[in-house]
Amino acid sequence: MLLSSQRMFRFDMRKEIIEDCTVYLADCMDVLPSIDPVYAVITDPPFGVGNFIQTAGNIRGEAVSWNDSAPPKEVFDLLKSKSDHRIIWGANYFNCFEEKGGAIIWIKNQPMPNFSKAEIASCSFYKKTEIINITWTNFSNTKVTSHPCERPVSLYQFCINYLPGSGSILDPFMGSGSVGVACALMRKSFIGIEMEEKYFDMCCSRIEAAYKQNDLFYD
Ligand SMILES: C[S@@+](CC[C@H](N)C(=O)[O-])C[C@H]1O[C@@H](n2cnc3c(N)ncnc32)[C@H](O)[C@@H]1O
Repeated sequence: MLLSSQRMFRFDMRKEIIEDCTVYLADCMDVLPSIDPVYAVITDPPFGVGNFIQTAGNIRGEAVSWNDSAPPKEVFDLLKSKSDHRIIWGANYFNCFEEKGGAIIWIKNQPMPNFSKAEIASCSFYKKTEIINITWTNFSNTKVTSHPCERPVSLYQFCINYLPGSGSILDPFMGSGSVGVACALMRKSFIGIEMEEKYFDMCCSRIEAAYKQNDLFYD
């Protein structure tokens, strides 16, 4: 792998500012070195397990290449250097547990025998294990976008509330933008990065819609 200083941008970067959210269409390795430190990282990186996603009943989903490998150690080191706190999902796949931290277990109530029944996040704080129970099966009855790994916004609202303090949030692997939507709904400053344009556009629309929803609520 090239050192970050030698990396070439893989495509033209795009930057959008939606109220208090700044989102980049880019490889996070190109953006992370230059962003200002944030209060917390909340993210769900590719697990590196390859992918055929079940989208509805027995329908086999689209194969995605970005899940073929987990992020390199360089990414986790950068995230640590850029934040006070971190909640990183997939900790059981790439072992990013931190010495002084704990874990969150999300019970998904997934009925399919070959699918994970729970996901695990490492936390950089609170040396204990917390549990959250949100039914989410990747079937059409719970999915709201066409991203194959979309997570519920309520999971990220829980994560934001679980942080020991308050401040700006970074998600360098935005996917469908659920962390950004949680931040918009909770009026948290957000920085997001996503390298696939179709997902990036989805993030922008969802974050804009979340702000509009909030405006209706607060007006
Ligand atoms: C597991 S999904 C995130 C799902 C997200 N939490 C949600 O709720 O939709 C990981 C995302 O990271 C993106 N990705 C993978 N490698 C990346 C990189 N180097 N830089 C930016 N985005 C990347 C993929 O395109 C994918 O959309």
